[in-house]
Amino acid sequence: MGIPSSVTPIFRRLEGKVAVITGGANGIGEAATRLFAKHGAKVVVADVRDDLGRALCKELGSDDTVFFAHCNVTDENDMQNAIDGAVSSCGIGTIWNKVNCISPYTVATPLVREILGKMDKEKAEEVIMETANLKGNILEPEDIAEAAVYLVSDESKYVSGINLVIDGGYSKTNPLASMVMQNYI
Ligand SMILES: NC(=O)c1ccc[n+]([C@@H]2O[C@H](COP(=O)([O-])OP(=O)(O)OC[C@H]3O[C@@H](n4cnc5c(N)ncnc54)[C@H](O)[C@@H]3O)[C@@H](O)[C@H]2O)c1
Repeated sequence: MGIPSSVTPIFRRLEGKVAVITGGANGIGEAATRLFAKHGAKVVVADVRDDLGRALCKELGSDDTVFFAHCNVTDENDMQNAIDGAVSSCGIGTIWNKVNCISPYTVATPLVREILGKMDKEKAEEVIMETANLKGNILEPEDIAEAAVYLVSDESKYVSGINLVIDGGYSKTNPLASMVMQNYI
């Protein structure tokens, strides 16, 4: 029996979509850039690190699928240029029509390793695991990217306004974390 034509192949879930990934040159953003491109999206990597961004785009392939735009998200003109560049290069139909958010537990990205005193990745993961609620698994940038793929895919077409917490239950079990979060809800 064949696959019904309405079913998106699981390996190309973002075919026909365009994503502007701010901070897409490193850490969690880089993982999202890689996974979105793998799933067939056209990606604009909007980042201040021109060196990393350009190298990533070059690695990921042809000029008409992954682009780099120098963009400081605190600068409105840079943001406008990144969006304009995406529209002219990729033709964004609806810019966006839903908004979601992902709240991860600590991931051993360059940012976190820097905060931990330039700790190497393995040691940082060890330290993070010690304080984590869910034992036996390490939270990686790719786990956050997988959630982001879901949130922009057609499978989540009616999901909007959520905060997808990816923390292995930490905020549910750590009273201090819950109290702190209450201040932001
Ligand atoms: N790593 C974690 O544990 C964690 C947890 C929760 C939330 N976050 C948030 O997720 C985001 C990404 O974190 P990360 O750990 O992957 O960081 P990272 O430092 O590893 O990567 C961040 C990327 O953003 C780019 N960037 C920095 N300032 C920028 C700016 N003004 N404009 C455009 N690009 C800019 C950097 O060049 C880099 O490529 C951050 O907002 C961070 O606060 C991270």
